[in-house]
Amino acid sequence: MRTVIAVTNVKGGVGKTTSAVYLAAAAVRSGRGPAVVVDADPQASGAEWLEESPVVGVRVVEAPTARLVAKAMDAGREHLAVVDSPPGDERTVRAVLERADVVVIPTRVGGPEPSRVRATLELVAPGVRRGIVICAARTGTRDLDEAVARWADEGEDVWGVVPERVAIASGSGAPLSIVGLVHYENVLIRALARTRGRGSAR
Ligand SMILES: Nc1ncnc2c1ncn2[C@@H]1O[C@H](COP(=O)(O)OP(=O)(O)OP(=O)(O)O)[C@@H](O)[C@H]1O
Ligand SMILES: [Mg+2]
Repeated sequence: MRTVIAVTNVKGGVGKTTSAVYLAAAAVRSGRGPAVVVDADPQASGAEWLEESPVVGVRVVEAPTARLVAKAMDAGREHLAVVDSPPGDERTVRAVLERADVVVIPTRVGGPEPSRVRATLELVAPGVRRGIVICAARTGTRDLDEAVARWADEGEDVWGVVPERVAIASGSGAPLSIVGLVHYENVLIRALARTRGRGSAR
């Protein structure tokens, strides 16, 4: 039985691809692998990353349209699929969210970020587990603390606060950051809690 985690935010540049790659790698590292990353973004940055710097136990499949992503989310033997969503393309985003068991929403602190998270949340079906991950966070800042508190006030779970790290920003150009892997493993544990997987979930 497969669990599909959608990594989604309608906004670009928030940390979707980074989160998808790290979540899949953290799954393997913590004995929850193998995993497949379904790259639904025509930019294919997730696929390029994993081709340049393969992670043992993580397969990647490119599925840059609504039709292809629907198929790819079901295909393969891995128990865990992590879908990297494109920014903006609402048709593909909807196709991803329709089939997801759980949704991870990467975001940043400040500016227009909360409104884009809310727009993303509106696309998530009621009853589907979802949580926010604050990416490239400046730990110890008041802005960060206020952002976390605001999501709590709005009743949204914050599953992770991943600190800003040069090693994470390096993407495929550096080995995966241990700090990043540890943070994303904790996100994964929260994402998988009480998830029954597909099949029994519907
Ligand atoms: N924890 C972090 N520390 C430092 N940099 C980070 C961190 N997380 C993400 N980044 C950087 O933020 C930028 C955007 O991340 P990423 O490409 O994952 O976002 P995205 O949402 O997939 O973007 P797009 O919408 O263009 O696909 C990248 O340069 C990435 O390296
Ligand atoms: Mg991306």
